[in-house]
Amino acid sequence: MNIILFGPPGAGKGTQGSLLEERYDLVRLSTGELLREAARNGTALGLQARVFMDAGELVPDAVILGMVGEVMHARGNRGGFIFDGFPRTGAQALALDAMAREMGSPIDAVLVLTVDDEELVRRLSGRLYCPNCGRIFQRYSDPPAKEGTCDTCGHALDQREDDREDTVRRRLDVYREQTAPVLQKFEKLGVPIHHIDGDRSVDDVNASLTAILG
Ligand code: AP5
Repeated sequence: MNIILFGPPGAGKGTQGSLLEERYDLVRLSTGELLREAARNGTALGLQARVFMDAGELVPDAVILGMVGEVMHARGNRGGFIFDGFPRTGAQALALDAMAREMGSPIDAVLVLTVDDEELVRRLSGRLYCPNCGRIFQRYSDPPAKEGTCDTCGHALDQREDDREDTVRRRLDVYREQTAPVLQKFEKLGVPIHHIDGDRSVDDVNASLTAILG
């Protein structure tokens, strides 16, 4: 099974992707996380990508497709992938469709999380993450037990550079202008698209997703 978690920044793709990854035998492939890891490691790709990410703009397709192709071929199709934050342009969607077919397992579904803009801004400006284990917290709705410290591994929590309010608003514009239209490509390709109300508790959203996936 290959599924795409789709939706604006802050809709809960990472949160739900991690839960689904645990529940099903799938590999989560988050292009945002791969790019942040490359930037942390100081690779040429990571440093180039960081300029776009910090400005809230999309990283060029050639960079993304090279990176995704490498990961997909290296990991093989062990039970399939959850694509999180990918594809984000028409060119990425067509390339993913071709790669997935070539590997003998086409895309089964696109799951679209919908949340209104002001809630997204609230969520992202309050998001904290653990640079050590990757766990995500929300300052207002899901705070860590001890302020600034990861409940799982005890590491100090951090805030993403692109979670400043002005950058979040730019990311939302980019989503509307360049990414939302990608859904039409999947419609044309005949891939089932499911819209899920993401403005509910994490558990309720997860229950809707698992009801769809079975
Ligand atoms: P990426 O890392 O993919 O960021 P994004 O899509 O903007 O998504 P986020 O990670 O911000 O949000 P999310 O939907 O995963 O929500 P989360 O679960 O974390 O991309 C970053 C950048 O990299 C892009 O801007 C671009 O520059 C570049 N990039 C990446 N992929 C690219 C591509 N394919 N092409 C080109 N460029 C690319 O949740 C957010 C917060 O809300 C958390 O605090 C969480 O705790 C909280 N939360 C989650 N669910 C709920 C809920 N139900 N109720 C209340 N709070 C909740």
